[in-house]
Amino acid sequence: MVSKEHISLVEETEIVRMLTIRPGTDLSMPEVRSKAIEILEAGGVIYLPRSGFELSEREQELISNTSNILTRVPDVEDGRPTIIFDPAHGRIKKYHYVHVKGKMMRAQVKDTARPDLEVILSRYSKWGENVITQLFPSYKLALDRKRTTYRPISRSSTQSLHIDSSYGYPTQGRSMLRIFTNINPANQPRIWQLGEPFEPFVRRFLPAVRISKPSWVSSILAHLGMIDGTKTKYDQYIATLRSLGIRDKEYQQTAPRKIMEFPAGSSWIALTDLVLHGAMGGQHSLDQTFYLPADAMNDSSCSPLRILERLTGEALI
Ligand SMILES: [Fe+2]
Repeated sequence: MVSKEHISLVEETEIVRMLTIRPGTDLSMPEVRSKAIEILEAGGVIYLPRSGFELSEREQELISNTSNILTRVPDVEDGRPTIIFDPAHGRIKKYHYVHVKGKMMRAQVKDTARPDLEVILSRYSKWGENVITQLFPSYKLALDRKRTTYRPISRSSTQSLHIDSSYGYPTQGRSMLRIFTNINPANQPRIWQLGEPFEPFVRRFLPAVRISKPSWVSSILAHLGMIDGTKTKYDQYIATLRSLGIRDKEYQQTAPRKIMEFPAGSSWIALTDLVLHGAMGGQHSLDQTFYLPADAMNDSSCSPLRILERLTGEALI
């Protein structure tokens, strides 16, 4: 462990590198910024134990009972459905469907709770952007702020180790930079498993990947504005690798991992297509997603795009 006054770097036995930034640290200090970008781009996690994003008492009370905010609370607690907020329009998305145990379901937010939730999510989105641009100023011009997610439902089953791929929202080679915050009003931790880095994971599953031409359905949806753009080969690789990893029972049982507990009031930041991860427990977390182009990185050879291009020998976007 390397320890300085404001930051401490925990080298977690080759599984995952974690940089802890102590509460009250000025995120714009050069030594903090340079260590943070090095760890983030190497597939590590930046951990802020008391990050400073807070809910008022009234807001805490509102979310403390899920039936205050959702018209229907699912009987299966697997962390879904989630509430998706679009920061560009300042609104919670009305039609966000997910599969919950074979049924299509959406988080239908109560009209009485919607204005308060939109205030919380809008505040979080701006706060997250502020933290990210303070810590990684060189990303500022290239970052694309995307959705804000609120997970009000408890998770009682473990999510498989996976890399994020933004299914339905092609990143077209950009990486997913996300800041997460545990806002649990009852002080329960959010528990994650963190797995191996991207490259060994890709090397294991790449031989089984079969890529077809981008489908015409995707082009039509993009043309109609229903998704953000056509799927590139990169998007197909990422989605296929993700599902191969999730479906491999032996991998899920034997892959190296570390369990992390993120207490209420803490935040953590990662390039989530570069770090194997899965939620194991907790309720009430927020996250803000940004797309980060490979060329905006300090070392673009660390990006999932360039790693995949090197390993496949192909241009993927
Ligand atoms: Fe994920």
